[in-house]
Amino acid sequence: MKILVLNGPNLNMLGVREPEVYGSMTLADLNRKLVDIAGALGGIELSFFQSNHEGALIDRIHEGHGTGLAGAIINPGGLTHTSISLHDAIKSVDYPFIEVHLSNVFRREPFRAHSYVSPAALGIVSGLGWRGYEAAIRALAGLASEH
Ligand code: DQA
Repeated sequence: MKILVLNGPNLNMLGVREPEVYGSMTLADLNRKLVDIAGALGGIELSFFQSNHEGALIDRIHEGHGTGLAGAIINPGGLTHTSISLHDAIKSVDYPFIEVHLSNVFRREPFRAHSYVSPAALGIVSGLGWRGYEAAIRALAGLASEH
């Protein structure tokens, strides 16, 4: 079972960026943790992609179409709150998305409470740090195994 893990703008700066909000874990640490979690669950192959560019994320989403992905996890970073094109890309492919945010976007500035991605996503996890990615992997794997 293949799951794609997408991270958007500024998430390459994890560990450095506002650690009081996002924690001290780097993106490499986070990805390693997810590989361990997928290994413990068994039968899950993760692929990772991070970009600071909206178009690169959209191209990667399109590349996944028709490749038998069980689903994708996306933390769109700030594009969450701005990108209709990301919304459209998610709706244009044949696999489900779970939107993940490390922080609880509803406890922060009001502009973070609106997401263009959420209406295109199967579900959302916000505020649980790296555990949100774990929850999303478990959910996608569970849903795919029911089919
Ligand atoms: C974020 C929340 C967004 O509002 C912010 O722009 C990010 C990170 C999160 O993981 O909490 O870049 O998606």
